[in-house]
Amino acid sequence: MASEQMIAIIAAIVIAVTLLVLFVYKESTGFRVVHYSFVNEKLKSDSYRFALISDLHDCVYGEDNMPVMDAIEKEEVDAVFLAGDMVTSYMEPKYHDGNAIGFVKKLAEKYPVFYGIGNHEDKIRQNQDDFPGMYEHLTEELAKAGLHILSDEKVSIEEAGIDVYGLDMEHKYYRKLMTNRIPEDYLEKKLGSNDESRVSVLIAHNPEHFDRYVLWKPDYVLSGHVHGGIINIPPLGGLISPQLKLFPKYDAGVFTKDGSTMILSRGLGSHTIPIRIFNKAEVIVVDITRS
Ligand SMILES: [Fe+2]
Repeated sequence: MASEQMIAIIAAIVIAVTLLVLFVYKESTGFRVVHYSFVNEKLKSDSYRFALISDLHDCVYGEDNMPVMDAIEKEEVDAVFLAGDMVTSYMEPKYHDGNAIGFVKKLAEKYPVFYGIGNHEDKIRQNQDDFPGMYEHLTEELAKAGLHILSDEKVSIEEAGIDVYGLDMEHKYYRKLMTNRIPEDYLEKKLGSNDESRVSVLIAHNPEHFDRYVLWKPDYVLSGHVHGGIINIPPLGGLISPQLKLFPKYDAGVFTKDGSTMILSRGLGSHTIPIRIFNKAEVIVVDITRS
């Protein structure tokens, strides 16, 4: 009898572990498309739709990220915004067409692409000893596709009256565990003044500085970086960021403050901790309409 009980307990444990592994696998693979809509009377066109991708981290869905491309095409977007960390600085890059660089080049064949820098692009740029030639390769390949990383610069989308700004933030403002706050006049010094008569979209990879971004009065901030907190525990939110911050204040979704709206992506890929729970990887589609 005792041995029968033992067998039943072991069987129950095996079933529970198997179900848990299947659950984590299902949560951690694939992606979904998430929609957000906003009204902005400053928009020149009737509407503007764009896809937002962040933190791909050189991940590949299906063959050469074609499922992601198909999902974007189905949404009939006007442009694609990349909020940084498309590449990963933790592993050997694989420069074939399916990874981040090839995927971005394919996107650029079909859409205007606005590429904001993340801490991983910054790291391969700064640490030439550890990543020799990697950043140059990235920029060269992007140049072949007719785009470049927006480094403290503005690009205007005239037909829609939108100004896109790419913020290139120093490494010290990404530090793990404790993040230095950017100065209050940081964006003004980096990007100049924000023309508030036009729709401004600020690509700023790190959402932790949202309270300071709003001082510059952007209409929209596009961020990523925290991967949704990896494990989402409703209603508490994301558990931990890849920077090891517990319950990050900004984990994923939409945040508003003083007239500015931050759209914070859960990211499309992962690195180091390849797990997601109740925190599906995502492509965000944003609609801005004039009325
Ligand atoms: Fe990041």
